Amino acid sequence: MTDKYAVIGNPIAHSKSPAIHAMFAKQTNQNMAYESILAPLDSFTDTVNQLIVDGYHGVNVTVPFKVDAYNLMNEPNMEGVHDAEAVNTLTFENSRIKGANTDGIGLVTDIQNNLGFDFQNKKVLLIGAGGAAQGVAYKIAEKNPELFVVANRSLEKVHEMKKRLERSKNLLVTPITVASFEELGSQSFDIIVNATSASLKNTRLPISNLIFADRCLAYDMMYGQETPFMAQARAKGANVADGLGMLVEQAAEAFTLWRGVRPDAKAVIDKMRVV
Ligand code: ATR
Repeated sequence: MTDKYAVIGNPIAHSKSPAIHAMFAKQTNQNMAYESILAPLDSFTDTVNQLIVDGYHGVNVTVPFKVDAYNLMNEPNMEGVHDAEAVNTLTFENSRIKGANTDGIGLVTDIQNNLGFDFQNKKVLLIGAGGAAQGVAYKIAEKNPELFVVANRSLEKVHEMKKRLERSKNLLVTPITVASFEELGSQSFDIIVNATSASLKNTRLPISNLIFADRCLAYDMMYGQETPFMAQARAKGANVADGLGMLVEQAAEAFTLWRGVRPDAKAVIDKMRVV
């Protein structure tokens, strides 16, 4: 019998996840189906419960339901879930709902393995303190860069995120430094990750060109278009990446959790870049 999976979000029509998982399933000979499901904004839990009744084995969860998914799970099936307080992968097993967040590992794997940038001895800047930033910050912190700064428009929000992260015992050899955009001053960074939703609105961030160190990596977690952040970094000579690699790597982690077999994410990234 074909095992059923899905991605749930709102909106969801443009999700690339069904295509990615179909390629993984083909690569690894898994008998599975994967579809996208639009959940009404107020009915995430009902939607998930119906999928369980219908015999689904698991779902990916995207905007805006990752915190709802965290609150719905019975237990984590991956480390760091309580640091992120957001879940993007649910597994339905023996009437338990298990939760994981594969976004952080997806981002660091893409940066290290596919783009060839190491975090050690590097100055890292994460921009943003919303759900997307929260899902990856603990994974960057675990890599113990030389300096880890998180900058956000609302300082209150980024202080809250720092507090949450510092509750965790197993990270933070590198302390998190919090900054407003003004406080970044003339500091420069080797790896800069844009996790704000400013790109969605095609808005330029109020960041100075000075943040881009020589030969730095500027990474926008958005994919599918050149964002104002990417254009600014490119003009300063930075190495620039969008979030397609992260999308495929986080999917590969979810697939591995569900199926117990690791797909070749790099082959899928290369294929999707050509399309
Ligand atoms: P997501 O789940 O995509 O992270 P979110 O939780 O609404 O969405 O968070 C959006 C993030 O983008 C926040 O860090 C937000 O900054 P504030 O906390 O100050 O609101 C940031 N953001 C959105 N638009 C922005 C803009 N035009 N300039 C700077 N930051 C912006």
